[in-house]
Amino acid sequence: MRLHLSTWPEIEAYLKSRAEVIVPIGSTEQHGPTGLIGTDALTAEMVAEGVGENTETLVGPTINIGMAVHHAAFPGSITLRPSTLIAYIGDYVNTLSAHGFRRFFFINGHGGNIASVNAAFYEIYAGYAAAAGAASERSNRPEPRCVLANWWECEQVKTLSRELFGGREGSHATPSEVAMTWYRFPQHVKSAHLDPPLAPAGRFFGAADYRSRFPDGRIGSDPSLATPEKGKQIYDAAVAGMTQAFKAFREAA
Ligand code: NI
Repeated sequence: MRLHLSTWPEIEAYLKSRAEVIVPIGSTEQHGPTGLIGTDALTAEMVAEGVGENTETLVGPTINIGMAVHHAAFPGSITLRPSTLIAYIGDYVNTLSAHGFRRFFFINGHGGNIASVNAAFYEIYAGYAAAAGAASERSNRPEPRCVLANWWECEQVKTLSRELFGGREGSHATPSEVAMTWYRFPQHVKSAHLDPPLAPAGRFFGAADYRSRFPDGRIGSDPSLATPEKGKQIYDAAVAGMTQAFKAFREAA
């Protein structure tokens, strides 16, 4: 069930028995010479839809532009600054919270979002803490409960990617994420000469520094190992892992 494909009476009916919403969050940024620019948003969205189907939970609109400042020197990358992303998430959660949603399970496709998303959660909680005791409408509503789950970090995915790609998974433009998008969008499988086949790894600072250290955009990865078939395996593992994490969150929250 997707929020943007529903009507308001359907959402009103959903809220009579449920208070959970799954929020896919990704990024629109370069993913090396063969990875789609939308990779992080596409993977987060497909995993969120799988978890939503498994658990009959509403999936909100995908936040498909994230905090990708370090990718900004590559054509096509789009970034929000951290403060914009924090404000965006606050408005997203607070609006739905006013309608009665209480548990927000963010499924994330991009490491660069982590700090800002967690900061956003505390900005939201701070608003409630400040309102506590005040005679405002907000103080009468229960605080929302938010959690961020990174699909690539669940045990199921880590085990499988080790098995399939070993030390060639890397940390950006990974064969796992590239394969997942190729599984879902086989008409957009790309090919390019990767030189060197295994990209360099290491730290980086701003956008210009990133591009000078990682000239083709990849970090530590060899996405030539990606295939749509392996993408289906990674997708299934991610949906299984995130379904488990969602159920644990629902019980704890
Ligand atoms: Ni990515």
